[in-house]
Amino acid sequence: MLNMTLTDSSAFGVYIHWPFCLSKCPYCDFNSHVRHGGIDEARYARAFLREIETTAARVPGRTVSTIFFGGGTPSLMSPSTVTTILDGLAKHWSIAPDVEVTLEANPTSVEAERFRGFRAAGVNRVSLGVQALDDASLKQLGRLHTAEEALKAVGIARSVFDRYSFDLIYARPGQTPQDWSHELKRAIDEAAEHLSLYQLTIEADTPFFALHANGKLQTPNDDLARDLYDVTQEVCDKAGLGAYEISNHARAGAQCRHNLVYWRGHDYAGIGPGAHGRLEENGCRYATATEKRPESWMMRVESLGHGVTVNEALTREERADEYLLMGLRLAEGIDPKRYAAMAGRPLDDKRIALLQAEGAVETTASGHLRVTQAAFPILDAVVADLAA
Ligand SMILES: C[S@@+](CC[C@H](N)C(=O)[O-])C[C@H]1O[C@@H](n2cnc3c(N)ncnc32)[C@H](O)[C@@H]1O
Ligand code: SF4
Repeated sequence: MLNMTLTDSSAFGVYIHWPFCLSKCPYCDFNSHVRHGGIDEARYARAFLREIETTAARVPGRTVSTIFFGGGTPSLMSPSTVTTILDGLAKHWSIAPDVEVTLEANPTSVEAERFRGFRAAGVNRVSLGVQALDDASLKQLGRLHTAEEALKAVGIARSVFDRYSFDLIYARPGQTPQDWSHELKRAIDEAAEHLSLYQLTIEADTPFFALHANGKLQTPNDDLARDLYDVTQEVCDKAGLGAYEISNHARAGAQCRHNLVYWRGHDYAGIGPGAHGRLEENGCRYATATEKRPESWMMRVESLGHGVTVNEALTREERADEYLLMGLRLAEGIDPKRYAAMAGRPLDDKRIALLQAEGAVETTASGHLRVTQAAFPILDAVVADLAA
């Protein structure tokens, strides 16, 4: 039954972006903002409701299968704002009885205290940004919590929610494969069904970028990064938490269904500042994005009913390329027939044969094309080759 929902093309997700954080982490390039003077949460809640109404008028009659509160730091929202938004969604769309409602949370004690409120509001899964399990790394990452505090928050999540996940960042400055293996095993002891494990990426226009550029922050070279990646797969596989996506690990059936909506190329509405969406309307797929700056987004919504600044009809080629790009991140790979139907032409057999001979891709028993585990670290190059 769960599987049907996951592969069903009617799967429809809603992403809600809460763009505020208590402080800006030096590695982060997400659309997140610090407002020391506070914000008018009730006014934002009204703007969210308005944008939901406008979006639902555009794609009416859908059944929402997954909802994701991402950020920024949505655990800074009051539970009553979460209730208001969920009620707004239910007013304009049908909600699937087994809807997955995830909320990203920072593991500070104040936020963990709100978990029961979030559950009462309808949240049934939390994803915690733990990032590291040692205080020196957390300090370097600019986090506002200690490892102990993070583990306490994980414990609270475990007692309140049936489903929880947490994020770790690895390939940090100075990290050895031994350190990481040890840290990951400790994390797995605390994890239940799902873990997101991201390699530290140095993003442009972040303080880490400047530090990295002038040699004050050194990240692992390619060989070491590969070793760290291999350790990740080895330790997780042994623990029954295999990768279902390049950075996401879960027990069978415990994948994040919302993220699968993106990677399987289904529709989702993006609500809130800087949110992206993909909407099928009159036989055409649109890529949407909203104004990023929270105050400008809110004023736009108040005057126009939505904050959309990009609404681009995708060509067949663009749509098929996107399916390839997203779908090949998954261990299950892509359905070549679906690709052909989107692109109006099949994938190039000769290229596939070449990549197969190199051990970079393989065909599964169900006929899906996927990147081999060995080639996952060079995923971008493989996708570029196939899409060329
Ligand atoms: C929107 S953020 C998470 C939510 C929450 N605000 C937090 O920080 O705990 C999603 C995740 O992306 C990861 N992330 C953000 N920037 C990253 C970077 N430069 N390299 C690797 N992972 C990153 C972090 O693990 C983070 O938890
Ligand atoms: S990592 Fe999370 S808490 Fe830190 S700035 Fe980014 S969104 Fe905010």
